[in-house]
Amino acid sequence: MSRFTGKVAIVTGAGSGIGRATARLMASEGAAVTVADIASDAAGRVVAEIEAAGGRARAQTVDVSDADGVQEMIAATVDAFGGLTSSTTRSRARPDRLDQDIATMDLATWDRVLA
Ligand SMILES: NC(=O)c1ccc[n+]([C@@H]2O[C@H](COP(=O)([O-])OP(=O)(O)OC[C@H]3O[C@@H](n4cnc5c(N)ncnc54)[C@H](O)[C@@H]3O)[C@@H](O)[C@H]2O)c1
Repeated sequence: MSRFTGKVAIVTGAGSGIGRATARLMASEGAAVTVADIASDAAGRVVAEIEAAGGRARAQTVDVSDADGVQEMIAATVDAFGGLTSSTTRSRARPDRLDQDIATMDLATWDRVLA
């Protein structure tokens, strides 16, 4: 079984570079992926790449510095894919707890991660 079969992931900055590669890899291993980026066109292109390869993805235009936009992104992902199972971010803001779930992270920690 692929590593992410049955998982739902949000990848931010997924229109390019590391985020694009991460989104494509997770989708190729079975995850349904929200491809989130401030650049709508780029997110749409990555979704098309994933779908052409047989994967499942949706595009989300979001500015990750906008807390309301991030909440909308999470809600839309849950609506579209029936849940959210992979949304960790690696942060030095809480060295006692490096891998955190962005869906339940408090706003102050989120802001420290971005800073
Ligand atoms: N620490 C390291 O060793 C290391 C190594 C490589 C990259 N990086 C960092 O990782 C990040 C990603 O690198 P990359 O090469 O994939 O960059 P990239 O420029 O190819 O991709 C970044 C993506 O993020 C999107 N984006 C920018 N601002 C956004 C916002 N506010 N909300 C949502 N999306 C936004 C862009 O549109 C772009 O698609 C960069 O900040 C880079 O500096 C760190």
